[in-house]
Amino acid sequence: MTKELEALLKEKRIFDPSDDVVNNSNIKRWMNDRGINTYDELLERARDQNWFWGEMGRELEWFEPWNNVLEWNPPHAKWFIGGKFNIVHNALDRHMKTWRKNKVAYIWEGEPGDIRKITYYSLYREVNKFANALKSLGVKKGDKVSIYLPMIPELPIAMLACAKIGAIHSVVFSGFSARAFRQRVNDAGAKIAITVDGFYRRGKVIPLKESADEALKDAPSVEHLIVVRRAGNDIEMDEDRDIWWDELIEGQSVVCDTEIMDSEDMLFILYTSGTTGKPKGVVHVHGGYAVGTHATLKYVFDLKDDDRWWCAADIGWVTGHSYIVYAPLMLGATSIMYEGAPDYPKPDRIWDMVGRHGVTVFYTAPTMIRMFMKYGDKWPKRHDLSSLRLLGSVGEPINPEAWVWYYKKIGRERCPIMDTWWQTETGSFILTPLPITPLKPGSATKPFPSFEADVLNDDGEPITGRGGHLVIKTPWPAMLRTLYKDPERYVRQYWSTFPGVYLTGDVARKDEDGYFWLQGREDDVLNVAGHRIGSAEVESALVSHPKVAEAAVVGKPDPVRGEVIAALVILRSDVNPSPDLKDELRNHVGREIGPIAKPSMIGFVKDLPKTRSGKIMRRIIKAKIKGEPIGDISTLANPEAVAALDEMV
Ligand code: WTA
Repeated sequence: MTKELEALLKEKRIFDPSDDVVNNSNIKRWMNDRGINTYDELLERARDQNWFWGEMGRELEWFEPWNNVLEWNPPHAKWFIGGKFNIVHNALDRHMKTWRKNKVAYIWEGEPGDIRKITYYSLYREVNKFANALKSLGVKKGDKVSIYLPMIPELPIAMLACAKIGAIHSVVFSGFSARAFRQRVNDAGAKIAITVDGFYRRGKVIPLKESADEALKDAPSVEHLIVVRRAGNDIEMDEDRDIWWDELIEGQSVVCDTEIMDSEDMLFILYTSGTTGKPKGVVHVHGGYAVGTHATLKYVFDLKDDDRWWCAADIGWVTGHSYIVYAPLMLGATSIMYEGAPDYPKPDRIWDMVGRHGVTVFYTAPTMIRMFMKYGDKWPKRHDLSSLRLLGSVGEPINPEAWVWYYKKIGRERCPIMDTWWQTETGSFILTPLPITPLKPGSATKPFPSFEADVLNDDGEPITGRGGHLVIKTPWPAMLRTLYKDPERYVRQYWSTFPGVYLTGDVARKDEDGYFWLQGREDDVLNVAGHRIGSAEVESALVSHPKVAEAAVVGKPDPVRGEVIAALVILRSDVNPSPDLKDELRNHVGREIGPIAKPSMIGFVKDLPKTRSGKIMRRIIKAKIKGEPIGDISTLANPEAVAALDEMV
């Protein structure tokens, strides 16, 4: 750490945004129009949710207005009740009536350096053609479509085409394995699946069609697989099932009616990891999700017509759904979309792109920031980053050191950092600064106006200055409505620990100024480089290997990736431990779930600590891995297992 950085960290300085940033911000203008003078006053006024979200809802176009903003029967909320709406009308159709028709929606860059600029008009036409193509295959309102695509323009096109005709998309991250894709396709009961021949990652072609073929061997609901041509690698087409995307859209009309949906109609399912081996299908709807994501992007990242917005996430995760696809398009913004690895071919790929495309607002994850920090200052220094005016962070707690590096070396001390805390379930930012918020490095500051968050102890009492359960006390428009096919788990998982209050699963501390400091997950969900992975999922992948008898998986703190996966494995009695076997198991997990879930560390042990009910005590394993005191072991059924951990090989 440099002396300079050290001094900054000790200073506990509050970073006030400059007058320039404040006075030109969308939120300040909004406040001025309503006679609101300060941040505190804004938070106070916005407590009237019906008023605040009514105002936000009216910034979008409705086919028919709503009767009531909110109906709250805990734990079930409905928003904009009675409103007729379609998110795609707002993301595309309405721009056809304005100058934005010819504005660039996406500047897409492939990893090899190929660039496509797509205007709103051409995006609209492509979406309509593909929507008509889906209809020609018999896709109707309410049907499910599973999308297994990398970061290519056909991904947003496919999502928007589904939403346009009232079909429900379920996007599966292209880094997930065949097995993970199959599990999600079958849970959703998808009628159509969409994939690509291959795509580029670190200069290599990833043959995704092969994984899709493998997955669909056992996916009876799928009638057709649509295949985008991207890398031109050799693939096998199943004559009865597979259709090339380009052949399918040929001759389709560029006009397609947008389905008039109810505000509460389902928009998409996105699977996310929980505490069991089975991913949860998080359900979002058209109306509230649109209003929530639109408002948060407009007022947090302050997008204006001349901005170039780059949310450097993958659309396969919620960050990309909300802030690469839906919200920026509703705002009529110009977004950057990038196919490949952020440090390929060199560690300055991102900074080079920021400079070349004149990016003004840049949003990434702390893992990336720490990685770039490790590569060294010389890489960003080579590039003109003067176009930047605002920065963002998401996915994990950002340590103050990374925050300050980002602020100084990337933002060059001009750009406030929006550290946004949220989840797949929340759909939109929950804890987040606005451009008018005084910032504390490492804190996601306060809830977005109208939201009420708190930190509770085990008895459900609010606490300050100490870590506790982060909860949300008010419903919000973009909140998940349920878990697909599992409404009971929705109630149990999120709303039962403290009745009527949403349990986030995160630990946080609230300071004396009401600022929130995130400390990580409190359940068995791992956060690896900003990606959510359930310990139980990795464990079940490990025990599916014929040489493994039992496995326990915990997170191990890592200076760059936040957390990495550590797995303790008991082998079957006739199997001998070896380094090769570790590699074999790692690759096995990669195949079962995806490369992101590969354990960084595997240890073979003879026994694992368990409770009397047979539950593995991850707390003890975690302490052991971190080299911390083990603590109370009186509830263990097999205390001798603790000593067995020392004999790990
Ligand atoms: C973590 C990603 C600290 C948190 C949008 C949460 C964060 C989980 C932050 C959700 C942040 C996200 N500071 N932690 N700014 N943002 N998290 O569903 O543990 O992939 O519960 O959504 O990421 O991950 P998910």
